[in-house]
Amino acid sequence: MSSGIRLILTTPYSKRSNKRRASLLFLKEGVKKIRTQGSLLPSSKYLGRRIVKRIPMRDKVVIVELGAGTGAFTEMILAKMPKNGTLLAFETNHILTEHLRKTLIDPRLFIIEDDAARLYKHLEEHSLPPADCIVSGLPFGDFNRAKRQRLLSAIRDGLGDGGLYLQFQYLPVSLQHIKKMFRAKIIGFEMRNFPPAFLYECKKK
Ligand SMILES: C[S@@+](CC[C@H](N)C(=O)[O-])C[C@H]1O[C@@H](n2cnc3c(N)ncnc32)[C@H](O)[C@@H]1O
Repeated sequence: MSSGIRLILTTPYSKRSNKRRASLLFLKEGVKKIRTQGSLLPSSKYLGRRIVKRIPMRDKVVIVELGAGTGAFTEMILAKMPKNGTLLAFETNHILTEHLRKTLIDPRLFIIEDDAARLYKHLEEHSLPPADCIVSGLPFGDFNRAKRQRLLSAIRDGLGDGGLYLQFQYLPVSLQHIKKMFRAKIIGFEMRNFPPAFLYECKKK
């Protein structure tokens, strides 16, 4: 009984403090590496909800997250994903992947500290088919043309036919580049995010 009370009292507090710790870590890393991180605060739950509700949560679903950061979406995806689903979460920043490994322990989740451009190789290594859905927060606006092309090609190769690629961006300039490879459109704009963000839905041509 007393341990039950302790649980109720401590859980909401630690969830809040974990969120604060994640935000501070993200801010600290963002100040050091703004051009690869693209923002100073993790995405909001409002943007996360918009994204997660679009993911086809079917049996044995394969989801890939590119640029997982401190896991703002990762946790929300896991909460909705079926038990037999798989989530590969890519993140290049070592400090952020360490944070993800400590805070998100789930047998369906594989945290990959590598460039999202090597997505296909990792799907193969995990004996997974191309993804049903790719969720990306990669800051394309901060990347040069060659890097953007490499990443978009990797997304196209790693996405199954009929799969869905969801991308958020703070400015819709990258849409023109994405449209060269995908059928892409803006499906939402979330004000309750810092910075406010556009959401694109993209499918293979
Ligand atoms: C705008 S942040 C989004 C973080 C998180 N998804 C969120 O919404 O709070 C972009 C993230 O992508 C990561 N990133 C940048 N380039 C990457 C790459 N080539 N491969 C994997 N991750 C990358 C950055 O380190 C950063 O954490």
